[in-house]
Amino acid sequence: CGIVGYIGGRNVKDVLINGMRSLEYRGYDSAGVALMDAPELHIVKGVGKVADLERILEDHPVSGSQGIGHTRWATHGGVTEVNAHPHSDLSSSLVLVHNGIVENYREIRRELAEGACGDYKSETDTEVVAELLSRLYSARGCMVEALVELYARLSGSFALVIMAREAPGKIYCLRKGSPLVVGTSPKGETLCASDVPAILPYTQDVVYLDDGDIAELSSEGILFWNASGEMLEKIPTHIDWDVTMVDKGGYPHFMLKEINEQGAVLRNSMAKRLAEGTVDLSAELPWTKKDVASWKRLHIVACGTSYYAALVAERFLETITDFDIRVDVASEYRYRNIPLGPDTLAVFVSQSGETADTLAAERIAREKGARCLAVTNVIGSTIAREVHDVLQLKAGPEIGVAATKTFMGQMAVLYLLAIHLAKMQGKLTPEQEKKYCDELTALPYKLESVLLRQESLQETAMLYNEARDFLFLGRGISYPVALEGALKLKEISYVHAEAYAAGEMKHGPIALLDPRVPVVVISPKDGLHEKTFSNILEAKARKSPVIAIATEGDDSLDGTADHIFFVPETLDQFTPFLTVAPLQLFSYFFARFLGCHIDQPRNLAKSVTVE
Ligand code: G6P
Repeated sequence: CGIVGYIGGRNVKDVLINGMRSLEYRGYDSAGVALMDAPELHIVKGVGKVADLERILEDHPVSGSQGIGHTRWATHGGVTEVNAHPHSDLSSSLVLVHNGIVENYREIRRELAEGACGDYKSETDTEVVAELLSRLYSARGCMVEALVELYARLSGSFALVIMAREAPGKIYCLRKGSPLVVGTSPKGETLCASDVPAILPYTQDVVYLDDGDIAELSSEGILFWNASGEMLEKIPTHIDWDVTMVDKGGYPHFMLKEINEQGAVLRNSMAKRLAEGTVDLSAELPWTKKDVASWKRLHIVACGTSYYAALVAERFLETITDFDIRVDVASEYRYRNIPLGPDTLAVFVSQSGETADTLAAERIAREKGARCLAVTNVIGSTIAREVHDVLQLKAGPEIGVAATKTFMGQMAVLYLLAIHLAKMQGKLTPEQEKKYCDELTALPYKLESVLLRQESLQETAMLYNEARDFLFLGRGISYPVALEGALKLKEISYVHAEAYAAGEMKHGPIALLDPRVPVVVISPKDGLHEKTFSNILEAKARKSPVIAIATEGDDSLDGTADHIFFVPETLDQFTPFLTVAPLQLFSYFFARFLGCHIDQPRNLAKSVTVE
């Protein structure tokens, strides 16, 4: 979900709506705002996107000098107007918006019912929290004290933003588990939000709240307390993103803009890390050779697209380093009994740095003594603040829910990490290192040449627009690319797409093949090319149309594959940087022909801060 709060001289409704729009990628099944024109509190909410809320607001204009807003991604309670946020307590003395899940809300609801109260309107945990806070506030007469107690009473994860009739001119924030940032603009406006894009138009200096932090926003500035009610000093972090980065820049969709930015993402990822044929990450990773020698195991843990970037990197790492490598999805890793300890370097890959499962896995690994490294796009994110070491992606904000440029950035950073580690293990000669570096430096140009040839992908996507099942195949390093290609297609077009290691096709999925099931084969000219070619023949024998991604100059697929999309030649281990781009574009055009909501696909959220 996305949260925004604002106190200042601009039109509050407009600030909230703009902020919510920039956070819509975090959730978009319903939206609402509350404006305070003391002592009046007005709530307007509805099902649908922020644009739908805007229309409602045109019919029911409200005004105020401060306000809070929320875009929802339903967890507790269906997608209905009553379940949309903001919620108020039973006597309507305060309003709040909430991200996360309060796990003990049923228990609290039972307790509260013992003191007589009216009926709850919604099925949400949030309304129960509003009622509890209202009672604590009435009893104590001080919001900060009430929030200290609320924090102690609630279990689960939450980011709460509150306005109370009795506290005009103030907005309160409380955080546990779900992210919240606050900031003050040079014009003396104060803001809070669940993510930076909502605040960027006003200031680039923000404070990330830690778990247990309470913030009080007013026109005088922001005050902070910890979970025990002690006042805190917090130092703002400067964000090197600017507001133009959260703009579509003339593209019809953020996803297309972000796909096209990938050459720049590669260059930025390498800047200051790779120069003159060598990789140097020592400015970010203070590891000695002794540290690296003490790590026998290397774990990489992530979710979704980040997991696929990890699988690509695994295949590179296992050829150039000496580690015992394990890559897992965070939701599994956290509940398994995996051997790890001080001999483990644990790498957590998360675009947002806020994914609940990845954070939980990281906490377990840190607890067990592993050295923890986060690879993330968001410098002030929870994971970045918790781990020992951070490598930041230099991808800029990614707004499209389907990750594209951050996948590219993750692969680049993980490859640099692989080279750095291999060197420290004494496993890489300067010649080998130079060969890798030269190729990494050439990759942005090669990638851009792929991105220039979008038309043929558009035509192929149109040709297969009636297909409702796709099979994606790849071997070796192309297998995770197939997984990512299939994920992109299902995420944004809702058609069924399944990825298999090409050699596994005959063990089941081959039964699905017929002329209505196109097979997308990632088949660059590498050491496994001939093996994959046999799988293409098997698919053709079942009359499935074959769309192949191949290396320029490779004519072996002529007459076999129905459509071939060529990418420039590169080292065998580097092909994913080039082969994934046509798959992203294919999914994009396919979904566009179907008229899907590309940047905000149904049921998905960009950052999943609940388990
Ligand atoms: C969600 C998003 C995916 C993303 C995954 C992991 O499911 O929709 O695009 O890959 O979370 O997110 P993270 O921020 O941890 O990389």
